[in-house]
Amino acid sequence: MTKSKSFLQNWIKPFIFGSSKEGNNEEDLERIAAQEQKIFTFVTLVAATKDFHPNHKLGEGGFGPVYKGKLDDGREIAVKKLSHSSNQGKKEFINEAQLLARVQHRNVVNLLGYCTHGVEKLLVYEYVSNESLDKLLFKSNGRENLEWKRRFDIITGTARGLLYLHEDSHNCIIHRDIKASNILLDDKWVPKIADFGMARLFPEDETHVNTRVAGTNGYMAPEYVMHGHLSVKADVFSFGVLVLELISGQRNSAFNFQVDAQNLLDWAYKLYKKGRSLEIMDPTLATSAATEQVAMCIQIGLLCTQGDPRLRPTMRRVVVILSKKPGNMEEPTRPGIPGSRYRRRQGSAALSSTTGTSGLSDSHTSSYYTNSASATTSATPGLDRLGKRPMQS
Ligand SMILES: Nc1ncnc2c1ncn2[C@@H]1O[C@H](COP(=O)(O)OP(=O)(O)OP(=O)(O)O)[C@@H](O)[C@H]1O
Ligand SMILES: [Mg+2]
Repeated sequence: MTKSKSFLQNWIKPFIFGSSKEGNNEEDLERIAAQEQKIFTFVTLVAATKDFHPNHKLGEGGFGPVYKGKLDDGREIAVKKLSHSSNQGKKEFINEAQLLARVQHRNVVNLLGYCTHGVEKLLVYEYVSNESLDKLLFKSNGRENLEWKRRFDIITGTARGLLYLHEDSHNCIIHRDIKASNILLDDKWVPKIADFGMARLFPEDETHVNTRVAGTNGYMAPEYVMHGHLSVKADVFSFGVLVLELISGQRNSAFNFQVDAQNLLDWAYKLYKKGRSLEIMDPTLATSAATEQVAMCIQIGLLCTQGDPRLRPTMRRVVVILSKKPGNMEEPTRPGIPGSRYRRRQGSAALSSTTGTSGLSDSHTSSYYTNSASATTSATPGLDRLGKRPMQS
């Protein structure tokens, strides 16, 4: 115990134990201690979400439903009720959640704390008022809220948030699931990356690998899907897809243009090669677009989605390019074909247990896997070992 702490405790002792409100004060201290450890009681979350009322449900992804709530002090929160598919022990969950709650950046959603209650595990985030980007970008009446400046700011903010996760957070965090629904927008349209570190909370294991749901989401880097090669460059790929979606207003996974292209990336690349890349631009941007900037971002999107991960820029490089005037940039090579984990073949996994990069020579080596339970599991043919998506229970 530090000197100052024991001094403080001696000083407050008479007030706590000598008073008739003994119980209350002890409760207060417990509450303060809990706050410091970012623990929420289940009762608090039940009250905040009106007992997880369906009207409070914001949505449901691969990890379980998310509810909007309001704390007694007026703060609005989003509570993610993790599905039971993760058999991660309580202690490990608490350790990971505490680590993730220390991740703080303007472009990353604030994890306020967590709660465990019986088999329930919950995460408590700040509520981000304009919710997720997909709810605007892929709806014709939503896109109008996203003029070019706003989209450019979303691109730069997301790039900064990812750079932080990759290089500046306590541990390199590879997000693995960068996509429009995981980019939240606050009241000032500042983008915030959500669902970082979920793989830490859902480490794969022998008994639960078959509970993963996988579907084509169009954001996953081919080397990750096909061979289990995970590096920061997998996030760079997903970021590139997101950039091209922001410019075109098209979902890569639902690309069905009457054009000679397999997907959004292929379409953008072909037009780029013909010097007509601006043709991918969302028509609603016509009046607001700064065309030089749009062209630069298309090129960044293409550089990030190149088939060879070694050729993709790091997020640091992306942030640098974005901060400069449009100018000289590398020439993108052919894009990789984005995939889903669903497509992985028998015996194709090659997950290294010691590094997240699995031999990608220039990649930022991740300490991520070495700290995650998923590091120690060996690949099972035909089953998805890397997928983070638990079956919705
Ligand atoms: N902190 C938050 N503030 C406001 N809305 C949120 C917050 N977190 C999540 N949401 C909303 O809840 C919805 C569901 O989120 P969830 O993360 O469960 O699903 P998802 O992003 O579609 O899929 P995934 O599980 O792959 O992340 C999101 O689309 C988003 O609109
Ligand atoms: Mg999400």
